[in-house]
Amino acid sequence: MQNGQRSIVLIGFMGTGKSSIGRRLAEVTRRPRFDTDQMIATRLGMSITKIFARLGEEEFRKQESTVLQDLDAGQLSIIVTGGGVVLRPENVKRLRELGTIVCLTANLPTLLERLGRRSHRPLLRGENRRELVEALLREREPIYRGAADLVVDTSGLSHDQVAQSIQDSLALGD
Ligand code: S3P
Repeated sequence: MQNGQRSIVLIGFMGTGKSSIGRRLAEVTRRPRFDTDQMIATRLGMSITKIFARLGEEEFRKQESTVLQDLDAGQLSIIVTGGGVVLRPENVKRLRELGTIVCLTANLPTLLERLGRRSHRPLLRGENRRELVEALLREREPIYRGAADLVVDTSGLSHDQVAQSIQDSLALGD
């Protein structure tokens, strides 16, 4: 099947712009957008922060697998995932069934700037933000790259530019 006829699945580290670029892609392609974090929050009636605090990361990861199963592989859409979705190999397998996997990246200074000094993200609550991010990146970068059909570096680019680059690479019409 040609890329243009498949769903687009956005993966990548926190702060790479998955949510904003997913919104933009949904607009320009007129496809529905599904965001796994939002689906989980709706399902459990709690914010991601509360889910981590009350139920723990392991339960959150289980929920990620569940919502990926709930998505319809036959529906042409834009699927936005949370940064840790690739940690479960079964999820990567499922994402491949769902569509073309596009990994968004950004260099460290860009990520640190975008993530700001304070964060609502439960995994970034700690003393040394840079060390936390570096440790997570070391663990995850090979997994992101192994899972991706296409890698797009978003450093220094606007959301529109990234969305356009993805459309061009996947030969999607405007
Ligand atoms: C996480 C990323 C978050 C969210 C949760 C865990 C991660 O999503 O799923 O806080 O493990 O990287 P974003 O990548 O949209 O920030």
